[in-house]
Amino acid sequence: WVLMATAQTPTNIAVIKYWGKRDETLILPVNDSISVTLDPNHLCTTTTVAVSPTFNQDRMWLNGKEISLSGGRFQNCLREIRTRACDVEDNKKGIKITKEDWGKLHLHIASYNNFPTAAGLASSAAGFACLVYALGKLMNVKEDESQLSAIARQGSGSACRSLFGGFVKWIMGKEDNGSDSLAVQLVDEKHWDDLVIVIAVVSSRQKETSSTSGMRESVETSLLLQHRAKEIVPKRTLQMEEAIKNCDFASFSRLTCADSNQFHAVCLDTSPPIFYMNDTSHRIISIIEKWNRSEEAPQVAYTFDAGPNAVMIARNRKAATLLIQRLLYYFPPNSDDLNSYIIGDQSIA
Ligand code: DP6
Repeated sequence: WVLMATAQTPTNIAVIKYWGKRDETLILPVNDSISVTLDPNHLCTTTTVAVSPTFNQDRMWLNGKEISLSGGRFQNCLREIRTRACDVEDNKKGIKITKEDWGKLHLHIASYNNFPTAAGLASSAAGFACLVYALGKLMNVKEDESQLSAIARQGSGSACRSLFGGFVKWIMGKEDNGSDSLAVQLVDEKHWDDLVIVIAVVSSRQKETSSTSGMRESVETSLLLQHRAKEIVPKRTLQMEEAIKNCDFASFSRLTCADSNQFHAVCLDTSPPIFYMNDTSHRIISIIEKWNRSEEAPQVAYTFDAGPNAVMIARNRKAATLLIQRLLYYFPPNSDDLNSYIIGDQSIA
């Protein structure tokens, strides 16, 4: 017999960035972060997990290609889920798996991204969140989404925020064992459904400095990172929560842009400096800043992660249409500077 479970999880984009760990193994951050989860039609991962007495080792395939499961992060997630597994009975198939059996049975895992891995947007966020959720389903784990998020966090920090839709906060927590470092939903995807997310794929190249090693170098060398974590983010997080609660786009946009720019300033303050944005990213920032200033109220917020691709959040459909018109004017369809656009809403995780 084979027993299977499938889950689908979208990626999330941080509007208050996570950058820096206080514990590398447990993946505990130096500050809280806040994100918006994208709709599953774009940038999502689908994972099927299967168990059978005929499997003689744990194996995993990503987009049809077998990948190694030896990494510590995978093993940590698998171990955490296995210790929480419960009895499972499928009377139709005549299957009974006890709590103890889960420690002995092997798994096959197949994961697909609905976007080209080469798009430079491949994110570990959706991947680990989906893996943990699918395993939890298969093994009848009773933990709620927040408790599962603390497991997904051990796969990749940003993954913990993908277990919910809408706006999500990763609370950094205080405990050394990480038990209180988990994600909570601030509001669901219906709360602020005017927002439209537009992603400009500026480069499909793999990033040169991974988030993991980049943030390690920043923690070791950037004084700005310490200042940001202690003095800036705690206040900014509260202001962001307020802006989201009130659907206050002017504040939301100001805080989102400021936080993205400060994150990239921390990267520049790292020794040696890390450059994630390129000239096209900088031009996009100038275009949006100029436009926002020419209007009575801001129309679009921008944010950039560890790469040059622009994530833009428009206040409504009209602003999103105008944004795309503007971008197409500056970067015509055959332009070398910009590959493609992805347009989406928020989602239900
Ligand atoms: C810039 O979650 O990819 O996207 O925890 O080492 O796997 P690890 O890092 P990761 O870092 C994401 C960094 C970011 C900001 C964010 O998503 O908050």
